[in-house]
Amino acid sequence: MRLLVTGGAGFIGSAFVRLALRESWAARLVNLDKLTYAGNLENLVSIESDGRHRFVHGDICDAQLVLTLLEKEKPDAIVHFAAESHVDRSILGPAAFVETNVRGTFSLLEAARAARLPRFLHVSTDEVYGSIDEPHDADENYPLRASSPYSASKAGSDLLALSYWTTFKLPVTVTRASNNYGPCQFPEKLIPLMISNALEDKPLPIYGDGMQVRDWLYVDDHCRAIWAALTKGAPGEIYNVGGSRALPNRTVVEMILAATGKPRGLITTVADRPGHDRRYAITTEKLERATGWQALVPFEQGLAQTIQWYKDNPAWIARVRSGEYQSYYDRNYAGR
Ligand code: NAD
Ligand code: DAU
Repeated sequence: MRLLVTGGAGFIGSAFVRLALRESWAARLVNLDKLTYAGNLENLVSIESDGRHRFVHGDICDAQLVLTLLEKEKPDAIVHFAAESHVDRSILGPAAFVETNVRGTFSLLEAARAARLPRFLHVSTDEVYGSIDEPHDADENYPLRASSPYSASKAGSDLLALSYWTTFKLPVTVTRASNNYGPCQFPEKLIPLMISNALEDKPLPIYGDGMQVRDWLYVDDHCRAIWAALTKGAPGEIYNVGGSRALPNRTVVEMILAATGKPRGLITTVADRPGHDRRYAITTEKLERATGWQALVPFEQGLAQTIQWYKDNPAWIARVRSGEYQSYYDRNYAGR
């Protein structure tokens, strides 16, 4: 396939780009990324000499750029990862979330419609369902009850994308994944933040009582699910993607401390996140039935691999934590 990937310098997008080239899913892969604070060309060093890959530095909101790329490259599909992706940042400043996640998705959909693109895979999140009370798990028909500006902007973009199938028959498929973890994740999210702080004996800030539940999905399992949904899923359909490993945050943090040999005394309780969703839980049967996909990496194994990656890459951590990161960290955690 010839692919246009958006956000392919970020955490999940770069994992998808590396895998798509390694597995020869893509004969040609154009990677459009704005390189925000979360975009990092270091995530792509292992494929930088691969002639099938072309990196384009640009904004998905730039409709003319997107249309020109579609006309010139004639991809078979767009795989759309580009987004503002961090809930805490959406609380500190929601504007960029509406701009990229809603208007950026609209710009891609319009260009795709004009170019009669054969396939559009919109990468979304289980956060659109909001907090889910036990004993329920959300299937794809569960109501959308987004809590944060981030998840609301993703829910908006999901509905917009699906409307392009219903109204214009643009073949759009939506995936909604649970919490990803793995190498190259920006250390603002729970797992990389706790690993990188633990490695430097810094406090590990748990929001509230730490009993909020998240379902953990290894990033390569997510990327394989996206490929399965793109190639074996149906247009107009939504597919949940879960790791079938739900854990309270406190347990995850304790596992990180045990694996890094650091003391529990590093844990600090800080004020809770406003609007904090208590529990995420989804079913993944629809994707499994339709495509045969299954999550392959058990959490203990994926976590050990991830910790090892952060141990092996102190320079990557130091670079992404310089500059803007410190001011974000102070804004989010100081006085909490
Ligand atoms: P990330 O923040 O690590 O990366 C986002 C990438 O998008 C960066 O490379 C950034 O430079 C790029 N980008 C941002 N705005 C852009 C714009 N206007 N134009 C072009 N590029 C732009 O995000 P991630 O964690 O890799 O998430 C990727 C996608 O997966 C997002 O759509 C997110 O909502 C979704 N998702 C993430 C998770 C998770 O746990 N991280 C789970 C489910 C779904
Ligand atoms: O569910 C999928 C979503 O998972 C994705 O759509 C988002 O892009 C991704 O950021 C993630 O959202 P969460 O809000 O669940 O992830 P985060 O890593 O920010 O937080 C996970 C849990 O850990 C959440 O309950 C908040 C808590 N937390 C987080 C941080 C950063 C803490 O207790 N302390 C922290 O410092």
